[in-house]
Amino acid sequence: MIQGPEDPQEPEATRRRAGVAESARASRRWWDRNADEYQLEHGGFLGDARFVWGPEGLDEEQAGLLGPAAGLKDLDVLEIGAGAAQCSRWLAAQGARPVALDLSHRQLQHARRIDQDAYEAGGTRLVQADAGVLPFADASFDMACSAYGALPFVADSAAVQREVRRVLRPGGRWVFSVTHPLRWAFPDEPGPDGLTAVASYFDRTPYVEQDERGLAVYVEHHRTVGDRVREIAAAGLRLVDLVEPEWPEWNDQEWGGWSPLRGRLLPGTAIFVCVAA
Ligand SMILES: C[S@@+](CC[C@H](N)C(=O)[O-])C[C@H]1O[C@@H](n2cnc3c(N)ncnc32)[C@H](O)[C@@H]1O
Repeated sequence: MIQGPEDPQEPEATRRRAGVAESARASRRWWDRNADEYQLEHGGFLGDARFVWGPEGLDEEQAGLLGPAAGLKDLDVLEIGAGAAQCSRWLAAQGARPVALDLSHRQLQHARRIDQDAYEAGGTRLVQADAGVLPFADASFDMACSAYGALPFVADSAAVQREVRRVLRPGGRWVFSVTHPLRWAFPDEPGPDGLTAVASYFDRTPYVEQDERGLAVYVEHHRTVGDRVREIAAAGLRLVDLVEPEWPEWNDQEWGGWSPLRGRLLPGTAIFVCVAA
């Protein structure tokens, strides 16, 4: 298509510094603008009340990374970057008391929509806030979890780890999934082009899409595996497992750069299982 002078420009993809405020502003706007499309495209795979850890389809019901489901009853659980709160709805079904936190108002409106459509009784407790500044008192939760929420998008992920530790009670579990750090070296392509390393795994310069004024409209931040482990330890958390789900035979769907082709050769998701020391 030939663009006329009034057409909005495609954002430019680049690698440059992006601080805490610029990253949060870009994420909030991007997720507000793209929540409808995200839920339309992935809502069926996620399910309204399932807990899926990532595009491989690893389901908490089978994985048990939060511990035995029976042990979730009566726990106060914080879900970070909850989107439409599908995971929180599964937690509530196990008898937990989840709070679903997200930066994006539109994502949380989808949570409300799902509650109203099918889960009228009660409804999910929703909070709009930034994961880097959690609006809760110290030791408010027995457990925290996040399926690709917030951590790939924040400039100061060490601050998120410290905030999670602060709001957890001693011994509380914190389990979060992120894009597997190895993926940073590869193009975000589901096909064969996504199988050749083109960038340094060690280059932490953020991936930024910016508009014609140079303002970030989408930001992703990279941490190596070692960076994540150090941030977890520095926050007073203990890493007890690092799960790298394999691509299962049954899953034939592509999700952005995640695909059966790449999934059989490269890890796509890393799930860190931690305990508050
Ligand atoms: C990939 S989606 C994952 C949503 C949900 N967990 C799921 O599996 O569908 C990432 C979510 O993180 C949220 N997010 C991004 N930056 C955040 C921040 N700084 N604080 C809280 N949430 C954030 C986005 O609004 C978005 O809903």
